[in-house]
Amino acid sequence: MESGQAAEWSGWRAAAERALYGPDGFFTRTGAGPAGHFRTSVHASAGGADLFAGAVLELVAEVDQALGRPAELVVTDVGAGRAELLRALGMRARAELPALADRLVLRAVERAPRPDGLPGWIGWGDRIEPAAHGVLFANEWLDNVPVDIVEVDPGGVARLVEVEHSSGEERLGAPVTGADAAWLGRWWPLDGAEPGERAEIGLPRDRAWAAAVGSLGRGLAVAVDYAHDAAARPAFGSLAAFREGREVRPVPDGSCDLTCHVALDACLAAAANTVHSLWTTQREALAVLGVNGARPPLARASSDPVGYLRALAAAGEAAELTALGGLGSFVWGLQSVGMPLPRRWLDPADAGSGRLLLHDD
Ligand SMILES: C[S@@+](CC[C@H](N)C(=O)[O-])C[C@H]1O[C@@H](n2cnc3c(N)ncnc32)[C@H](O)[C@@H]1O
Repeated sequence: MESGQAAEWSGWRAAAERALYGPDGFFTRTGAGPAGHFRTSVHASAGGADLFAGAVLELVAEVDQALGRPAELVVTDVGAGRAELLRALGMRARAELPALADRLVLRAVERAPRPDGLPGWIGWGDRIEPAAHGVLFANEWLDNVPVDIVEVDPGGVARLVEVEHSSGEERLGAPVTGADAAWLGRWWPLDGAEPGERAEIGLPRDRAWAAAVGSLGRGLAVAVDYAHDAAARPAFGSLAAFREGREVRPVPDGSCDLTCHVALDACLAAAANTVHSLWTTQREALAVLGVNGARPPLARASSDPVGYLRALAAAGEAAELTALGGLGSFVWGLQSVGMPLPRRWLDPADAGSGRLLLHDD
């Protein structure tokens, strides 16, 4: 903190809200956006073979077919960054599936302002609009929905962690009560936890995801994120910060991304209007959608050197998107609304170790 500046304390949720989305916030100021600071699956793919956008397009086409090819199919990208995914998706759809492209409506939902030069065929807004038929995709959105953090004190009481906004210094505040305490009891119980253990209260994310899924009349919602379920909560929490490609100390001063992994089982359970819910890894989801890291046969290098090099680059991109311990370990939560999940997602032979969580048919 600069000398003379008054200390400002709050819980992490309010602090991150202002640091990320306030005036001149980390995500809301103009510039390169998230791509300038970390590499998501969208960035790993954009400008290369666009395998990630190709896989999402395959999923969109599958939903389109399941819905009987409606007159309009809305693709909503929530937490769209600079709309890199929708640009690539739209270009590929026009080139590969023109009959579908003519019926697609592409909407980016972002808290940042519309970037200069974004093509007119991509809509932009800060609210999720209802879609009668649609695919809602959210890559690394929920981990940036701010949450409060609690820590068990030496007496065994879970207390709100307060943070000073300009230094990142922390202290323990009041015991947790009300809806937050109820959420912890249901999703992240701290009974018997040691002093110093932490939990992150996912209630705002549950609400945000339930509203997102609730925007669909019929279709599919997909959340892709760093995630954990009740069997694997991180005992000391997962708060982390990134700036220009490096992990840094979390300070809520607008200088860095602030993120916590997502209790995605709670989010999926909060969506009330679903038929099927599937939990799987990105590696397995992309395999279902035809992306794998297989290298082209070496013999092709002499018969078709250009094609070989292109296939080799695509294999490298696929390897990064599916690497275990990296992007391949991200969780895909898929929830269908007003329709079953397409058949191949329900067949364990295709969906690998994907787990069907809810089945309300
Ligand atoms: C980690 S970035 C991901 C960007 C992009 N989806 C990608 O995968 O490259 C998260 C984005 O979500 C946006 N975001 C967070 N909360 C949001 C909300 N409630 N509505 C719209 N956008 C939001 C942030 O502004 C940020 O651009």
